Amino acid sequence: MDTYIIEGGRRLFGHVDVQSAKNSVLPLLAASILTADRVRIRKVPRITDAMCMVQILRELGALVEWSGEDVVVDSSQACSHTISSALTKELRSSVFMLGSLLTRFHRAVIAYPGGCDIGLRPIDLHLNALKRLGVEIAEREGYIHCECERLRGAEIAIDFPSVGATENILLAAVMAEGRTTVQGAAKEPEIVDLQNFLNAMGGKVRGAGTDIIEIEGVEELRGVAFTPVKDRIEAGTFLIACAICGGEIEVEGAKEENIGLLLHKLRENGCKIHSKNDKIKIASYGKLRANRRIETMPFPGFPTDLQAQVTALNASCDGGALIVENLFETRFKYVPELIKMGADIEVKGRHAFVRGVPRLHGATVTAGDLRGGAALVLAALGAEGTSEVLDLSHIDRGYSDLEGKLKCLGAEIKRVRV
Ligand code: UD1
Repeated sequence: MDTYIIEGGRRLFGHVDVQSAKNSVLPLLAASILTADRVRIRKVPRITDAMCMVQILRELGALVEWSGEDVVVDSSQACSHTISSALTKELRSSVFMLGSLLTRFHRAVIAYPGGCDIGLRPIDLHLNALKRLGVEIAEREGYIHCECERLRGAEIAIDFPSVGATENILLAAVMAEGRTTVQGAAKEPEIVDLQNFLNAMGGKVRGAGTDIIEIEGVEELRGVAFTPVKDRIEAGTFLIACAICGGEIEVEGAKEENIGLLLHKLRENGCKIHSKNDKIKIASYGKLRANRRIETMPFPGFPTDLQAQVTALNASCDGGALIVENLFETRFKYVPELIKMGADIEVKGRHAFVRGVPRLHGATVTAGDLRGGAALVLAALGAEGTSEVLDLSHIDRGYSDLEGKLKCLGAEIKRVRV
């Protein structure tokens, strides 16, 4: 089990390049089996979620290779429509394989997906949508069995703008007979990326980025080489790291419009932000002010995947902040770890009341989930003294070489195997 040893109190300076978005790469990998032609996804970060998705594709019989930073998928020999329970439980995104497998083989068998322990995370919206497309679904011995003679376009209204359910509908409807309309779709930039990917393969999808998406089923899809959108959550994590530590950094890759609310909140803290094209510069000096209130919402609202990081930031600001988590039921599990570092935070259900303290101190803490783990790293970078962040397995799911990038910015962080 790997651990970070972090000596807090170093300011951050320099430039960092953002990786391709985890939340785009995963559905794109799932989409790669929609055609028997070769598909190249460029610049796939070496995160364990992506590696696990590659394993799933291999289990289906696809030939998948890393070619430098790219992943090349040749699924011409793929013949299985079943994903083993061990792999399905490794990551939440295994659920995307339902849409892809149904399009390719008209059947799919998967176990209930895993992922971070941040709430109930049911998949009813996915399954109801697939039923509307003509899929018959049965649950036996912990597996979900889906099959259909053919997928038929339908009008689908989603009760909540679920990112994964919206993406699954795109994957299942892209070659369905006729037209599918999705009302109440999620609007995340990664969904726009999936639309662009499918259209580059010959699909006819429009409207992604709005709450109505229209998909005209096509007869076939062809191979494609595609560069995914950059990771707005990783970009946000570095910007918040600089806000916490002080200093000046430039983050290259993420577009301002994809993290507009975070930039607004960082300005409210007292940081200076300047963005041009896909470069965002942040300068943070002196004591920052707490944000009065941050409430997570589906895009374009404040991202739940940055909630833990801004809570860590507010923990040592002047004043108090109320952080409201609207997406997931139990996404404050990292808070007791922050309290070990001296934070003054009270959690009541979906609300965290943060009273800023002058400074956090080093402690030994455990990263229990991906973004909560990142928040602990950021808190440790700003804290006085040495911290150990134990169990990096969750952080590795979404950040490639986090320690290397932070070190280049001047942080004192090292990874050790214990
Ligand atoms: C995706 C992201 C994740 C992010 C989340 C919210 C990927 C790979 N992951 O996760 O990083 O935190 O969006 O922005 O893209 N829900 C249901 N029934 C369903 C599906 C969802 O009730 O069938 C609920 C969930 O429990 C949750 C909410 O809807 O409360 C949002 O979930 P959803 O948007 O589906 O998140 P994911 O796609 O799992």
